[in-house]
Amino acid sequence: MLHGKRILLIVAGGIAAFKSLELIRRLRERGASVRCVLTDAGAKFVTPLSLQALSEDKVYGDMFSLTDESEMGHIQLSRDADLLVVAPATANILARMAGGLADDLAATVLLATDKPVLAAPAMNVRMWTHAATVANVETLKKRGVTFIGPNDGAMACNEHGPGRMSEPEEIVAAIEAMLVRERPLKGKRALVTSGPTREALDPVRYISNHSSGKQGHAIAAALAELGAEVTLVSGPVSVPDPRGVKVARVESADQMLAACLAAGSIDVAVCAAAVADWKAANPAAGKIKKKAGAAPPALELAPNPDILATLAKRGPKRPALVVGFAAETDNLVANAVDKRTRKGCDWIVANDVSPATGTFGGDRNTVHLVTSRGVESWPPLGKTDVATRLAARVALHFAEAGKAAAAE
Ligand code: C5P
Repeated sequence: MLHGKRILLIVAGGIAAFKSLELIRRLRERGASVRCVLTDAGAKFVTPLSLQALSEDKVYGDMFSLTDESEMGHIQLSRDADLLVVAPATANILARMAGGLADDLAATVLLATDKPVLAAPAMNVRMWTHAATVANVETLKKRGVTFIGPNDGAMACNEHGPGRMSEPEEIVAAIEAMLVRERPLKGKRALVTSGPTREALDPVRYISNHSSGKQGHAIAAALAELGAEVTLVSGPVSVPDPRGVKVARVESADQMLAACLAAGSIDVAVCAAAVADWKAANPAAGKIKKKAGAAPPALELAPNPDILATLAKRGPKRPALVVGFAAETDNLVANAVDKRTRKGCDWIVANDVSPATGTFGGDRNTVHLVTSRGVESWPPLGKTDVATRLAARVALHFAEAGKAAAAE
């Protein structure tokens, strides 16, 4: 919730400005007050009257208005806010922010503020990927501006790709993550598996897969951000350890299972690791030698333990919420629904890992969340955004479970 939080919403000139109306409505529903600054270009897309009606506050736009400046100067606008949100953040306003311009009220407030700033970019895909915008975003990130989105998808200009402004609910979630100091998962213990496993054939060779650990690590970080005490059991990866998380490094599936069972009592387990299904039945103690003229050695495989199913079917020691992943290339949702029952877990996060999606090793993910309530398809998101959403859903689950228990 955002009770008592004050948002200064800067609406710049992009077609996505219409979504800012919905954003105001959602923020106010959650108890925040919203005051708007509308740029001249923004006013070509939404009217001050709409913003005023939804925010129930005066809309500011003119830097040189004597009455505005005497009632609420540009410095006061920022002083009176807990957070500045730029939505839509066009290529132009990002460039003006990066360049330190103060050529209208919006830019001046952004230059004069010492409050946190969240930007939700929205622009044509080529403007977003242009070297100038890339450099501006990098500069702003270095200065501490937080970014949400943009999402991939069809755009008003009949093109496709990254550039769509994040949906209002995603922006609200990002605002809550920035402003809400309360930790909804405080007191909860979380276990996350991440990365691939390595199954030794001999001391120098192994079977493994392409999992990068990016998604699992991001989930561990997002759960910790919400206050959970997180143990991350990670296979060999090159991504850095997330902050505030206890990391157990393992190689094989057997070691991963042992580390999970050693983690003690757990409230929520998220199995994001790409565990090898098989291991060598008889790994050689010494390096297997190549012998001239001899046939290649036959490889006999044995099944690995299923860590997710083991945790989900652990009787009284079962975590209250067990979440698995389903990486599929075909019949994604049907397979995920089936997997949820087969493995005995509560939720399955199904993701399409066909080579064309670039999910494996990449930064983006398109997922469907399969729960007992049905299937929810999320828009294509960055892996950190998937993690933030999933952690928020975990927090919601425990909040609802807590309410249900209290009502009994
Ligand atoms: O059976 P499949 O590998 O498709 O299931 C994927 C899900 O099961 C993921 O959550 C993965 O982390 C988990 N899994 C596991 N142990 C295995 C195989 C998969 O925990 N041996």
